[in-house]
Amino acid sequence: MSLLEALRGAVGAANVLSDGDLSAWEIDWRKRYRGRALAVVRPGNSAEVAAVVKACAAHGAGIVTQGGNTGMVGGSVPDASGTQVVLSLARLNRIRAIDAANLTMTVDAGCVLQSVQEAAAAQHLLFPLSLAAEGSCTIGGNLATNAGGTQVLRYGNARELCLGLEVVTAAGEVWDGLSGLRKDNTGYDLRDLFIGSEGTLGIITAATLKLYPQPAAVMTALAALPTLEAALQLLQLAQTRLGAGLTGFEVMGKFALSLVRKHFPQLAQPLPPAPWMVLLEQSDTESESHARALFESLLESALEAGIISDAAVAESLVQSHTMWHLRESIPLAQAEEGLNIKHDISLPVSRIPSFVAATDDALLAAFPGARLVNFGHLGDGNLHYNLQAPEGVAAADFLRDSEAAVNAIVYDAVVEHGGSISAEHGIGALKRGELAQRKPAVALALMRSIKTALDPAGLLNPGKLL
Ligand code: FAD
Ligand code: MLT
Ligand code: ZN
Repeated sequence: MSLLEALRGAVGAANVLSDGDLSAWEIDWRKRYRGRALAVVRPGNSAEVAAVVKACAAHGAGIVTQGGNTGMVGGSVPDASGTQVVLSLARLNRIRAIDAANLTMTVDAGCVLQSVQEAAAAQHLLFPLSLAAEGSCTIGGNLATNAGGTQVLRYGNARELCLGLEVVTAAGEVWDGLSGLRKDNTGYDLRDLFIGSEGTLGIITAATLKLYPQPAAVMTALAALPTLEAALQLLQLAQTRLGAGLTGFEVMGKFALSLVRKHFPQLAQPLPPAPWMVLLEQSDTESESHARALFESLLESALEAGIISDAAVAESLVQSHTMWHLRESIPLAQAEEGLNIKHDISLPVSRIPSFVAATDDALLAAFPGARLVNFGHLGDGNLHYNLQAPEGVAAADFLRDSEAAVNAIVYDAVVEHGGSISAEHGIGALKRGELAQRKPAVALALMRSIKTALDPAGLLNPGKLL
């Protein structure tokens, strides 16, 4: 029996796509990778996923698991060989259970993040993972990449929001680790091994997630600042005044916001341009008036101390959405502007100003006119430190000629400043070479032995991560 016949037997012919235009599954969101799939297979439950894995294993075919295909590092698309099978989990989209008293919910891996948030909200509970791709990324993809987003400084990244997993192994067995336990010290933590493994160790088919009580009020503010040093001072002040109530602290550079203005002129920008803008979010357990009073007093103190030059507190939900929309439109504006070089990096918060000053200088000396797009989750030390080609230079040419040298400057500086070359997007295909060069040899060897133990034939997402 051919592999295609076996796959049709596993999930039904209607759920095996092998003819026609498969580009939606073959091209990544950033349009940096274009592969060719033998087939796109759409199982409807965990047992079917296991049957697909067994069929692929019997034919030695590589399996590229895909959720919403919103990943930033080319991890979710097949290579150009035409031999790999894309395993789309889009049909695994059931909310299995919500246990309000245990503050947990169990969901299929293909559930779109926004639908998970909405299911929690319908029970007056909060699932706090939040990112601009939430309308199309899946919880399985979030866990496979250990996604971060905008609430990490209060709630942690995807790993910290997950209590249990169901996983289909490379041998096609189903591991049921869907525990709603907050304590379970029974040996090696298999859950944490699969989280962040980018589809290279197993296929996540369901997860038990942590929920929180909904805050009484959520309030947003924008502040304009002269320098990044001032942004750090504001962060410290906000942490002191708001404590755990500070749930978002996003930074946006002037050029990043100018791209939003250029490509989305219809979006209101509540404050005039400034060197830096910070979006603050506060979640309050008491009331909206309590939150507003805290915010106003914080921002007044920051103005008096010369930390910020201007500020606006959202007066309504609409204004709050406008502020978030501005921030979340930056990656979309960058995509509109053209292909770009992306660096999702993590640094000790205290070292961010010196990193940016030194690296901006080094990049502009080596690539005069390069346009630096700087924004990100400053509250947890995660910058999106990106480059667009100089004005008038074709983006594809700039990337071809300069990407390796740009990356060397940026990642050398990241290491020098005690940071990491991937904060929240993962390694995928994009940073695989960089990881091999920069991760300590002992760590790489341990990672390779784990890979060999769990996927001895190397069928799961070949050519990614390691
Ligand atoms: P995919 O892109 O389909 O896959 C990503 C990786 O996970 C691949 O390696 C794939 O093989 C693997 N995978 C997917 N599903 C499974 C599964 N069930 N089991 C095993 N492996 C699997 N990320 C952040 O961390 N923070 C942000 O703030 C953020 N903002 C974004 C904003 C925009 C506009 C966009 C387009 C992306 C953003 N991202 C952000 C990128 C982020 O990684 C993804 O949005 C998300 O986590 C990936 O989910 P997905 O379902 O699209 O996964
Ligand atoms: C974001 O924070 O907006 C995302 O991680 C996407 C990006 O880096 O472009
Ligand atoms: Zn991000």
